[in-house]
Amino acid sequence: MAVIRFGISLEKPLLERFDRQIRKKGYASRSEAIRDLIRDSLVTEEWESATAETVGTITIVYSHETHELTDTLTDLQHRYFYSIISSMHIHLDEHNCLEVIVVKGKAKDIRAIADKLIGTKGVKHGKLSVTTTGKHLK
Ligand code: NI
Repeated sequence: MAVIRFGISLEKPLLERFDRQIRKKGYASRSEAIRDLIRDSLVTEEWESATAETVGTITIVYSHETHELTDTLTDLQHRYFYSIISSMHIHLDEHNCLEVIVVKGKAKDIRAIADKLIGTKGVKHGKLSVTTTGKHLK
């Protein structure tokens, strides 16, 4: 694939802050850091379109001792089986469980599933991490 070079003009303090940030993150070059920013912006756009097919991970932490919570979470995951690709359950300690659920589908459907799981009474913490199928990114 052809690589195109282009110049960017920006204020010195802004560039210095950017350089400090990318050094801290371990980027080998400004180009690589800017490529990542552009990709992230494209993924955000994908998620805003609602109907684009996309991928995300839902992470939840809960106590398996909470009354009926495990059953409720399992029921929800069966209801949305067509969108759930995989899940991983980790017993964090005697009481707490961590679950990572990988979901694929329309952005609005994935958000709805995440909201339901995270909003289930007894879930201590939950987060939807949004990413992409990668099909439209080089
Ligand atoms: Ni567990």
